[in-house]
Amino acid sequence: MTTMSVAQAVAARKSVRAFTDQPVDLAVVEELLKEAAWAPSGGNLQPWRVWLLAGEDLAAFKARVVELRDEFPMGQGPEYDIYPPDLWEPYRTRRFENGQQLYAAIDIPREDRAARIGQFGKNFEFFGAPVAFLVGIERKMGPPQWSDVGMFLQSFMLLATERGLGTCAQEAWTSWHQVAYEMIDIPEDVMIFCGMAIGYEDTAHPINNWRSERADASEWIHRAEVRR
Ligand SMILES: Cc1cc2nc3c(=O)[nH]c(=O)nc-3n(C[C@H](O)[C@H](O)[C@H](O)COP(=O)(O)O)c2cc1C
Repeated sequence: MTTMSVAQAVAARKSVRAFTDQPVDLAVVEELLKEAAWAPSGGNLQPWRVWLLAGEDLAAFKARVVELRDEFPMGQGPEYDIYPPDLWEPYRTRRFENGQQLYAAIDIPREDRAARIGQFGKNFEFFGAPVAFLVGIERKMGPPQWSDVGMFLQSFMLLATERGLGTCAQEAWTSWHQVAYEMIDIPEDVMIFCGMAIGYEDTAHPINNWRSERADASEWIHRAEVRR
């Protein structure tokens, strides 16, 4: 196992959207999840809830989604707004450009809606990852606890990076929450936040060979000038 500094793991982590067939030991993923649970959370509530999917269970879950995709190509509908409606600047452009870059990497022109939908649909196969999970949070929890779940997820992704595993967090799964409740014993008082695809990166796949950008720090770091 290569050792990475935290800075190296942060820099190396990226969303991986194509995986090799190399199996992933579920025990390793469980270990990484337990390590990730050292993430901080307000009041130490540890509000994350995880449902692991692998092997035949993962296959059966994906097969049910495939069955329904003729009727619902984009999913049965999200349970929360993935983005606020009518996204405004600078977020609108950031999102747009990220999408452009992703589709350009795999030679899909913006106008080719069918191809874009086809690529988007790979979300619903966990991008071919051999292991995945759904992460949820009790509906009664609020924004502070959602933020805790985010820290837990990033901790998991960094630890996975260190182990040589690729990951992709997937809010897209909210669009299949009904299937998740139907197929998995997830209590209805838990809202599914997102999925996580986990596996070994297919480094030859062009979808993995581009890097998302970041806004210039001057757009969001402010030196507070305190009125006095
Ligand atoms: C909570 C969360 C949910 C996400 N959902 C999806 C998703 O459904 N599908 C997808 O392809 N990428 C998804 N992403 C990945 C983002 O698009 C990605 O993090 C962003 O473009 C920055 O790229 P990077 O992760 O490669 O640094 C998600 C990321 C986060 C943090």
